[in-house]
Amino acid sequence: MTQQTRDTRRTETATEYSGTGRPAADAARATVVVTGATGRTGSRVAAAARAAGLTVRAASRARGFDWREESTWQPVLRGADAAYLVHPSDVGAPDAPDAVRLARTAVGVGVRRLVLLSARGEEQALPTERALAESGARWTVVRSAWFAQNFSEGPLLAELREGGELVFAGGAVRAPFVDVRDVADVVVAALTGGDRYAGRTPEVSGPRLLTFGEAVAEVSVAAGRELRYRAVAPRDYGARLAGFGVPPEEVEFLVGLFASLLDGRNAHVSDGVRQVLGRAPRDFAEFAQKAAAAGTWRP
Ligand SMILES: NC(=O)c1ccc[n+]([C@@H]2O[C@H](COP(=O)([O-])OP(=O)(O)OC[C@H]3O[C@@H](n4cnc5c(N)ncnc54)[C@H](OP(=O)(O)O)[C@@H]3O)[C@@H](O)[C@H]2O)c1
Repeated sequence: MTQQTRDTRRTETATEYSGTGRPAADAARATVVVTGATGRTGSRVAAAARAAGLTVRAASRARGFDWREESTWQPVLRGADAAYLVHPSDVGAPDAPDAVRLARTAVGVGVRRLVLLSARGEEQALPTERALAESGARWTVVRSAWFAQNFSEGPLLAELREGGELVFAGGAVRAPFVDVRDVADVVVAALTGGDRYAGRTPEVSGPRLLTFGEAVAEVSVAAGRELRYRAVAPRDYGARLAGFGVPPEEVEFLVGLFASLLDGRNAHVSDGVRQVLGRAPRDFAEFAQKAAAAGTWRP
């Protein structure tokens, strides 16, 4: 995790996580396993769950939980009531069957409620989503739009901060970038909301459509420095990923995924945040101002 990422997350206090009010008393006493707890969504889900009074078991490799090592699953899941599942690559990726086996393992040791993060409009994710539904758990799939925090955390940040340019396969397509704090609030509402969200697939997005170029322009204004966006074809972006050391099979999957997710099918807003939380989603401008204030894009 970079210093900027730590700073950005430190400025997010527990009170920012609005949830849907007080969880039911039994939900408040529940123990929830949060996978990806050091990542963009998992760190916020953990914070929002604690703010809602849940006991959080943060799962990541440093704490002995590894998606690729099945023997590490039961120890973290046993005795928990619920789990947030975020697959480290993607629930449509060739290694996504991990998520299905993990869900079955969780149900087998008594975890009753599972909330899985998926992506909006991703056909490749549907087999995993269906398998979750057949796992025997009370399940919710949160289908998310592109994260606003892709611009401030994770692999795209370094280029933008150091080189002043974001190179990506987003063409001129418009996307309703969602703030991962809203994703976290929706996940925690599903974890604490009794059966209200069981068997549902809320689709969450931000309130406004922006092209990747427009988003970088907003970041540039907030950061007070010139930042640019350069669109490349998915295939050319794949070649860049290979150059960064991403394994060939993962590159092939990502090229296909980006080509489909960015073909215009996701150029619409969804009302999942309002449906679940009863409030509007956070705007991209608020995200950009907050991250800029934390020094995220300072070279
Ligand atoms: N980016 C988007 O716009 C977007 C939109 C919709 C859905 N999604 C989905 O979001 C997911 C990624 O979530 P994120 O952005 O919150 O995560 P992230 O910031 O990419 O972080 C990955 C997390 O997974 C953990 N991890 C990595 N490899 C692991 C392993 N082998 N075993 C256990 N933990 C491991 C990491 O923890 P440690 O390294 O500390 O172990 C870290 O906490 C993907 O499934 C993606 O499809 C992303």
